Amino acid sequence: MGRQVSPAGRLSVLQLETPRLRLREFAEDDAAFVLRLLNEPSFIEFIGDRGVRNLDDARRYLREGPMASYRAHGHGLLRVSLKMDDTPIGMCGLVKRDTLPEPDIGFALLPEHWDRGYVTEAALAAMRHGEQVLGLGTILGITSPHNVRSIAVLGKLGLRFVEEKSLGDKPQLLKIFALALK
Ligand SMILES: CC(C)(COP(=O)(O)OP(=O)(O)OC[C@H]1O[C@@H](n2cnc3c(N)ncnc32)[C@H](O)[C@@H]1OP(=O)(O)O)[C@@H](O)C(=O)NCCC(=O)NCCS
Repeated sequence: MGRQVSPAGRLSVLQLETPRLRLREFAEDDAAFVLRLLNEPSFIEFIGDRGVRNLDDARRYLREGPMASYRAHGHGLLRVSLKMDDTPIGMCGLVKRDTLPEPDIGFALLPEHWDRGYVTEAALAAMRHGEQVLGLGTILGITSPHNVRSIAVLGKLGLRFVEEKSLGDKPQLLKIFALALK
């Protein structure tokens, strides 16, 4: 599990496995899947409109978002697929934002894969990597106040409600959750 130094001395790709799922770093080849996921109405409603409208936008999002995060922080949103046939179903991972002191756990699945507990399984693997490999002391969670599914998932992951506040210069209120690991 985790990121290891390859014989050539280069850092290898972060990959995690759970009983049913595989999580790995996104690459630009995942643009078509990301284009679909980021334009799901549920993604736009609960996470936001990333302005990704075509494959070039999706490749830029991947380069400047998740792929930049892997280099800067050793973690980021990972591609989640079914282990049995590698069908991509969503994204999940730790996100470090300028507006929060600690990384938060982020996730989104295509709606046809909801209600099977996949996201909880994926998020536990990403959090375990954060704790055991990256040595994180706290993991945060943020959701819009009416995102009942996400709030339920954060509760299953062991995070507890801390406060409601807005982040940075964005006006909307968010619920902040936290789990102390140490
Ligand atoms: C958030 C998301 C990943 C959850 O996926 P999921 O497959 O539904 O998650 P799970 O099945 O593991 O758990 C969902 C929980 O919400 C509960 N739930 C569903 N509808 C609910 C409702 N109306 N009220 C209260 N709880 C509800 C489910 O019962 C389940 O809890 P349980 O396992 O204790 O029964 C998915 O909804 C998604 O991709 N949403 C869009 C993106 C998003 O909002 N991301 C989070 C941003 S903070």
